[in-house]
Amino acid sequence: MKKIKAKPVVVSVGIEQGLSYDVLIERNLFSSLSDLLSEYAPSHRYAIISDNNVGELYGLTIRDQLRRDGFNVDLFIFQQGEENKTRETWCDLTDQMLVESFGRDSCVLALGGGVAGDLGGFVAATYMRGIPVVQIPTSLVAMIDASIGGKTGVDVSAGKNLVGCFHPPNLVVVDPEVVCTLPVDECKQGLIEAVKHGIIMDRTYFEDLSVAIPALLARDVDKIQDAVLRSIELKAIVVSEDEHERGKREILNFGHTFGHAIEAAQDYSLSHGTAVGHGMLLETLLGIELGLTNPETFDPIKKCLGCLGISFQGSLAIDPDKIMNYLRLDKKSKSGERRFVFISEIGSVLRREGDWSHTVDEKTLTHFLKSL
Ligand SMILES: NC(=O)c1ccc[n+]([C@@H]2O[C@H](COP(=O)([O-])OP(=O)(O)OC[C@H]3O[C@@H](n4cnc5c(N)ncnc54)[C@H](O)[C@@H]3O)[C@@H](O)[C@H]2O)c1
Ligand SMILES: [Zn+2]
Repeated sequence: MKKIKAKPVVVSVGIEQGLSYDVLIERNLFSSLSDLLSEYAPSHRYAIISDNNVGELYGLTIRDQLRRDGFNVDLFIFQQGEENKTRETWCDLTDQMLVESFGRDSCVLALGGGVAGDLGGFVAATYMRGIPVVQIPTSLVAMIDASIGGKTGVDVSAGKNLVGCFHPPNLVVVDPEVVCTLPVDECKQGLIEAVKHGIIMDRTYFEDLSVAIPALLARDVDKIQDAVLRSIELKAIVVSEDEHERGKREILNFGHTFGHAIEAAQDYSLSHGTAVGHGMLLETLLGIELGLTNPETFDPIKKCLGCLGISFQGSLAIDPDKIMNYLRLDKKSKSGERRFVFISEIGSVLRREGDWSHTVDEKTLTHFLKSL
């Protein structure tokens, strides 16, 4: 086994049958990629899958460095953006790999934000019935969320992420240094999900984040590394307990029932994190209204999300009829039910009769939304 230059922090994520994969977190970890791939994902060939932004910023350097170290590696680039997380892009990428004669003994390196992670993961899951993938997340959303948990897939005209599968990576390599080139609005998107981790699982983390947001947005890399590590640890706990979202993993959907409805109600003009930020405010209020959530939780959550650009006035301005229309049609809802995750306190999700999420009937929801 080769020696790894940097000494990364290792978080283990459990998958079925007692197996697990490692998430390594350390500054400058990309410089150790050759050693890491030899150790965790030895393969005949490597296909780096990246969008044009990240491909240019990091993909070319990584490809050249791996080639210098004797790896057989190619870089496949798609156009950045959620609108390209499609079956068509999946087709292009798999066709290009076939033309280049990538075999079963190849490995995908999914380098980039959540779009590259989901697409690269889905290519790996399906190419020749499945080849390994190493996730190399470069956005905060991808570091703390998309790269952990093994979900891969593409968007289709009927909705986001509706075609895909679980394909856990061999390894996740997180180099927090790369957040320095991430646009500030993209940083906010990731931090909103980090705040969610604090709200549902760890009050101290929530309080620390509330204080650290200005430093995080100024890309203080030590603070970013700290937040990324704590979020990954929290997500790893949940995902390890419930790989396929049948139980506790549901708590990660806090803010997402309204969040997804708000994204749709605004014709996807709002980013996912922003919509989830509004969703967390509304779901906290709904929990308070139903007597399930401590009313004192609202102000700190509002203040913290306010620092990330989520204004409560903005939440109130969203058309309640459009939200209800989406909730009625939600394709992912189980048998048409509208289920919500509620917190009892900051740091604790309410669990009733073994369930982590709870049904709210249409009449109650309509009344709540109209009363805002
Ligand atoms: N699989 C999962 O469990 C899971 C979880 C959460 C989100 N997701 C998916 O993730 C996607 C959102 O991820 P995202 O917000 O990272 O979007 P993204 O991949 O589109 O990245 C956002 C933008 O930032 C750029 N970028 C990324 N890293 C950069 C860097 N270091 N420097 C400069 N620019 C950089 C990208 O090129 C892109 O333009 C969605 O498709 C969502 O469905 C998946
Ligand atoms: Zn989300």
